[in-house]
Amino acid sequence: MTLGKGRLLAIASGKGGVGKTWVSISLAQALAERGRRVLLVDGDFGLANIDVQLRLDPGRDLGDALAGGALPAPHPAGFAVLVGRSGSGALAGLEAAPVLALLQRLGQAYDDVLLDLPAGVAPGVRRLAARADLLLVVATGEPTSLTDAYAVLKLHRQDAPSGAARVVVNQASGRLAGEATWRTLDTACRRFLGAGVPLAGVIRRDALVPAAIRAQVPLLTRSPGAAAAADVRALTAGLGAPTPALLGA
Ligand SMILES: Nc1ncnc2c1ncn2[C@@H]1O[C@H](COP(=O)(O)OP(=O)(O)OP(=O)(O)O)[C@@H](O)[C@H]1O
Ligand SMILES: [Mg+2]
Repeated sequence: MTLGKGRLLAIASGKGGVGKTWVSISLAQALAERGRRVLLVDGDFGLANIDVQLRLDPGRDLGDALAGGALPAPHPAGFAVLVGRSGSGALAGLEAAPVLALLQRLGQAYDDVLLDLPAGVAPGVRRLAARADLLLVVATGEPTSLTDAYAVLKLHRQDAPSGAARVVVNQASGRLAGEATWRTLDTACRRFLGAGVPLAGVIRRDALVPAAIRAQVPLLTRSPGAAAAADVRALTAGLGAPTPALLGA
């Protein structure tokens, strides 16, 4: 999707609770540390979480922005954020089309727009994922997460045959275990979908992650030396600058 010079990165997983929201926030901060202008958007319209993990007052949310009355708020961690509102009936039924139009308009001012998608493969989620320049599919080593991540990748191939997707393995017990998790997905994609899926990176399980979430302070601010923070930074380095391959039409 054309966002001026920027790109739309969507974060999905199929299965809930694997770390999409935390990964989205951490990637936003790590990309901002690299000097990129980043907008983080809560795409979980009914059960928004970014405001909770960042302890933000969702005074002005996506609904207000759609109505033309609000701009993304700057966060001290260096990126702008557009929050949702948990339990908001008004946002729960939101359609993909107006959100994409909003992202296209707001996205002009940013290098990277990160969209934290909800769990599941509802039609609206698929439509948003299909328009991303790069879909990051978060998976853990649990069989249910792998099955759901594979389903997301399969549907994405149908919805966006030339779309790019990569796997983020989260909560890995170690780098090798994380790579083994990715290889399982890659092998399934090669065998049944005709092409593999690249690994974006492995993020280790780290007790400092839930501690930061409980404190409602981003990990890269609270524990910049944490193993998981290092993994996020390494992953971000691999995402690089927008390339023609990533910039879908
Ligand atoms: N690398 C990690 N190490 C340890 N714990 C983690 C890690 N990543 C995520 N978690 C744990 O997973 C929990 C769920 O994370 P998060 O809310 O970001 O998941 P989600 O996929 O966005 O969930 P939902 O599907 O409900 O939106 C966090 O509260 C945290 O405790
Ligand atoms: Mg979430």
